Amino acid sequence: MSTFDAVELIRTKRDGGRLGDEAIDWLIRAYTDGVVTDEQMSAMAMAIFFRGLDATELTRWTNAMIDTGERMDFSSLSRPTVDKHSTGGVGDKITLPLAPLVAACGAAVPQLSGRGLGHTGGTLDKLEAIPGWRASLTNPEMLAQLESVGAVICAAGAGLAPADKKLYALRDVTATIESIPMISASIMSKKIAEGTASLVLDVKTGAGAFMKTLAQSRALATTMVGIGNAAGVNTVALITNMDTPLGRTAGNGLEVAESVEVLAGGGPADVVELTLALAREMLACAGIDADPAAALVSGKAMDAWKAMIRAQGGDPDAPLPVARHTEVVPAEADGYLSRMDAMAVGLAAWRLGAGRAVQGEQVQAAAGVTWHAAVGEPVQAGQPLFTLHTDTPERIERAKEALVGAVDYASAPPELRPVVLERISAES
Ligand code: URA
Repeated sequence: MSTFDAVELIRTKRDGGRLGDEAIDWLIRAYTDGVVTDEQMSAMAMAIFFRGLDATELTRWTNAMIDTGERMDFSSLSRPTVDKHSTGGVGDKITLPLAPLVAACGAAVPQLSGRGLGHTGGTLDKLEAIPGWRASLTNPEMLAQLESVGAVICAAGAGLAPADKKLYALRDVTATIESIPMISASIMSKKIAEGTASLVLDVKTGAGAFMKTLAQSRALATTMVGIGNAAGVNTVALITNMDTPLGRTAGNGLEVAESVEVLAGGGPADVVELTLALAREMLACAGIDADPAAALVSGKAMDAWKAMIRAQGGDPDAPLPVARHTEVVPAEADGYLSRMDAMAVGLAAWRLGAGRAVQGEQVQAAAGVTWHAAVGEPVQAGQPLFTLHTDTPERIERAKEALVGAVDYASAPPELRPVVLERISAES
């Protein structure tokens, strides 16, 4: 591989120029190997933050990140593979009911997930609330489970796009996360390396999301759909509402319990609606003609959930952990709930012990927040609005502080945005 001068490449991007194919390959490889320093890559990330990457640069950048690690291969499976990725939101437990539901309809869903950092919870942290469940699987174990059960939710190994791991950590401490090309390359490099044939993206928009406006979310969705389809992964995106937290719970075990309610045919209407919308897209991408709503009613999705949990050592029938302390926060006024701040609810759950402040910290399985009314519903002053759950009561005051001003009340029912706002495909 040719050698380039990192300073010259940074200067080119800083001044609005393009990076050539070989220069991108070299930069990503050399950064992963420690030849290009963190200081230099921080400057490059900031230059890209301001100048962007064009479509050709972005495809090359994504491929170069994939080429730093392994690519998984699911071509031996008898089922078509299809995965989902969400850009993240408070109370977003959709992966939990969705993966077994889509598996119950005949697809293989290889969900390589992460742990939470900050105010949004990680899927693995949620499942670890189930007694006995383990997140780490070998590649042969994963393949066997995909063939027999059809769904795996497990930890992404260090071998997938290692360049992204290093670059993401650097971006996190240099205020360069919020760049559409770098977010797109980061997410898509991992999903393409994972080897799924099809992918449905849930791009969140609104006050509780990374992307606050519909225009930003549309740009992110369009960019990721472009990268996926260019790499041969059949990719579509739904842009979905994250003005308010999803469902009625935020917190690891609490979200597992809510997901099980959905699999049993109940659960909050927004969680059910989004799960079914994503399931329909995933099945269409996989070429499977099945009705996911019927799989919820018939109990097939619940059977797939139990099989998925058991295959990874968990007991799906064991009681979930219950917090040692709870405290109720009452509604302050009569009226219709017209706003619930997703960030505030996420922060409260985090402060109660559901999330971690630094990598590797233990999370509490039972900590979190339950809300007893959703936006649009009528409430009366004094009725329970939130219940706070924690094993460590000294955390409760700080969680309550996070919720001060988190809701608004109105005298008439507010206008609500639909759960699914737009669909972006290669043809859009
Ligand atoms: N999630 C990722 O995996 N990467 C980003 O850059 C942002 C969110």
